[in-house]
Parts: sequence; C-alpha cells; structure tokens
Amino acid sequence: MNIPFESWYAAISHRYSQRSFNGQKLSNESLERLENLCEEFRPFRGARASFVRAPLKGVFKGIVGSYGMIKNAPHLAAFIGDTSFPEVQEATGYLGEGVILEATSMGLQTCWIGGFFRHEVLEQILELEENEKILAITPVGYGVSMKSTRDKVMSYAIRSHRRKSLENLLTNSNIELPSWSRTALEAARLAPSAANRQPWRFTVDADSITVSTGRVRGVSRISSRLDCGIAMLHLELGAKVQNKEGSWELLSAPYVAKYSTS
Ligand SMILES: Cc1cc2nc3c(=O)[nH]c(=O)nc-3n(C[C@H](O)[C@H](O)[C@H](O)COP(=O)(O)O)c2cc1C
Repeated sequence: MNIPFESWYAAISHRYSQRSFNGQKLSNESLERLENLCEEFRPFRGARASFVRAPLKGVFKGIVGSYGMIKNAPHLAAFIGDTSFPEVQEATGYLGEGVILEATSMGLQTCWIGGFFRHEVLEQILELEENEKILAITPVGYGVSMKSTRDKVMSYAIRSHRRKSLENLLTNSNIELPSWSRTALEAARLAPSAANRQPWRFTVDADSITVSTGRVRGVSRISSRLDCGIAMLHLELGAKVQNKEGSWELLSAPYVAKYSTS
C-alpha cells in the first residue's frame, strides 16, 4: 500500500489524545475505509491492526487519576504484534500510528492506550495466532467538544502538549542539519509517546537519520521501541513531503532503525 503521505503529514499537527467521546457511530463508508486500511497496511512483518466496530463493554480501564480512562468510544482499533519477531514493537508503533493519522485525517479522534485495557475482553473477539499479543489499542470516534475537567487535569499532569527541543533529541547536535532532515525531525518530535516520555534520539547524517532509544522513565511495561516506531512514521512523512524518498533498515538495541535516502 502506498502511504498517503501528504494527508498523514498534515494530520500530525491536528492529532492529540482524546479520552472522552460523544458515542456517535461512524458512517458505513468511514467504517469500511478504516477496516480496509487495517487489512491492507502491513509495512513491516510482525504487526497488524484490526478494527472493531462495536467494542465490548469493559475494554477500557483507568488507573490512578484518569490515565487510560476512556469514555463513550463507539469503535476501536487494536494493534497486534507477533512476539516471535524481534522488531515487533517498532513495527507495531509504526503501523498503529498510520491508522491513527488516517483516522485524524478523516476528522476523527483517537488515543493510544498501551497498558490500561482488558486484554481478555478483546481476545474474545479478536482471533490471535499463537505468538500474537495485543500491544495497544485506540478508541476511534468523535470527541466531546469541551474537554472535561478530568481530561484537563490528566493532560496537565502528564504535560501532554510539551515536547523536548530538537537540540535535546540529537546525539550529534553540532552538525548543520540538511533542510529535509529538519522537516523530518520536527515531524518526529511531535509524535505521541506513553506518558509523553519521548524516548527517541536521532543521529543525523547528510542522507540518513538513525533512531535510537534514550533513557526512559515510567510506564516501563510499554516498550520505548513502540514509541520509536511511531516517531519513525512521523520522520518518514516529514522526509517524504520534502521529496526525500528512502527506506528503513531495522537495527538492534539501543538503535531502532536507520532511514536512508540514497
Ligand atoms: C504507546 C503509547 C501508549 C499510551 N498509553 C496510554 C494509556 O494507557 N492511557 C492514556 O490515557 N494515554 C496513553 N497514551 C497517550 C499519551 O499519554 C499521549 O500520547 C502523550 O501524553 C502526548 O499527548 P498527545 O497524544 O495529546 O500529543 C499512550 C501513548 C502512546 C504512544
């Protein structure tokens, strides 16, 4: 499948995590569009998405404060990884963000949920293969127009709008950034991550960017490589809008992957 990179790139700046929905179901046309995307978008081995039209009650659960508490979501997408593949986390992050940016480009709201959902409820309806695990899900629907006090408190607590400066994310900050890489890095910088921990680090060369993981705090049960997979898609979209086609080479820890444009 060819990535609709212009609309997904445009969606990056509109996307944010929405936790309260108005319950309105999507039209059949929109449901089919997202179902088809989940079927067709398989950018890396070891990861797939499944769209669930009518989520069972009790899938979402909250913890302290309201992290993870999702209200009135009419649908969801599940991001499923085959744990026998070493690249399962980054593959799932990249894939899931594609579904999320497509939904955003359709005027819908979403929220990555990595830890706080009931696997057993979803496993009743998703047919998982032997090594497969549901690594994350997202509610999909229309958000309530006013943020509830609960949502505001949560966003404030995890400072969800804040992002690290580019200088703090580069491992070789004294280099002159090629202009294509600045757009790619800015797009990657805006990626969502669990508890907004932004674990990605970037090493830039004239025709490549290598993504690696820095030190992470909190939410240790969600892999920082999953966050990095999300940033990989953003990075590639930024490169593509600058006409820098490229390809990914997946790497072992602490590296994640290298995007090369030549
Ligand atoms: C892999 C991943 C897992 C996440 N898990 C949760 C979660 O369990 N509950 C929740 O409320 N938010 C979750 N989030 C949302 C993040 O808190 C949010 O993306 C981050 O604070 C940045 O805010 P933004 O998405 O509004 O830009 C998760 C995000 C990612 C990328």
